[in-house]
Amino acid sequence: MIVKDITEENIEDLCQVCVPPAKKEHPDWVRGAGEKKKWAVDMLQKWGSFAKVAYTDDIPVGMIQYKPIPEERIVSIDCIYVPRDKYWRKGAATQLFFSLMEDMKKPLSYFDNKRALALVTRTFPGEEPGQYSAYNFFRGKGFKQAGEDPDCLYLPLKTGFTYQPVTKKEVEYVPQEEDRGQVLLICGPTGCPGTYPYFLKRMEKYIREVDSKIPVRWLDSSKDLEKVKERQIDTGGCIVNAKHIKSFVLDKESFQKEVRVALEAG
Ligand SMILES: CC(C)(COP(=O)(O)OP(=O)(O)OC[C@H]1O[C@@H](n2cnc3c(N)ncnc32)[C@H](O)[C@@H]1OP(=O)(O)O)[C@@H](O)C(=O)NCCC(=O)NCCS
Repeated sequence: MIVKDITEENIEDLCQVCVPPAKKEHPDWVRGAGEKKKWAVDMLQKWGSFAKVAYTDDIPVGMIQYKPIPEERIVSIDCIYVPRDKYWRKGAATQLFFSLMEDMKKPLSYFDNKRALALVTRTFPGEEPGQYSAYNFFRGKGFKQAGEDPDCLYLPLKTGFTYQPVTKKEVEYVPQEEDRGQVLLICGPTGCPGTYPYFLKRMEKYIREVDSKIPVRWLDSSKDLEKVKERQIDTGGCIVNAKHIKSFVLDKESFQKEVRVALEAG
């Protein structure tokens, strides 16, 4: 097993590693991987180092994605993933993590040539049945809870450093008159190739089951940036009848319930 930093040469491996093998040719997943490529090219240009892939016999088996938060002098791990079961528990994630830890020993230009104070991550339940959770993985690597949020974990890189999550004012959807009586799904460049095929297309399907006639409009943040900005909704967002749907789409019952409430709101 070897770990490589993402460069222009292997950027495609990062975009493909999380795509299920059976879906490689599926148009929705091809589009999802394409959205990730746009995101990755931008990240590479912006930060230089932002992701690593683990390879077994030249096959990409896992990845870690991260970015610096210069104003807090921390590095945020946004995703760690070893998708296929035949590669679980073989040390891929550990090697990815240790490779990042090695990088953290060096001063970083975006921290005025100082070292990062901590690695920080916000975990979410992205694991398949039988797969280890990111939460357990990071706890096993010594991460502790930051502040009140049990999903916010950190690993101090400087002795005695305590991380307190910065409470950012929650950005709320700014309702637009033209959003009434329709559905808006926000797509565009993103770090997850499943955002379009797995999450957004599923939202469309579940909404169709509740209302088969409501018009569905797609807003692409790479083309309709102004429209996305005026609504203040990120890629992956869903608006129904000028209401932002906040339920997680994999919780189908809650998602459809919230959609019904939004539609009934008139
Ligand atoms: C967590 C994850 C990255 C671990 O990957 P991995 O390559 O199998 O991990 P490693 O082989 O490096 O093992 C790391 C540790 O986890 C433990 N572990 C891994 N899978 C385990 C399992 N199913 N049960 C118990 N322990 C497990 C290993 O024993 C090891 O423990 P140790 O450090 O005490 O020896 C992987 O299971 C995964 O991708 N989970 C989903 C994470 C997720 O939701 N990501 C977001 C998706 S978009």
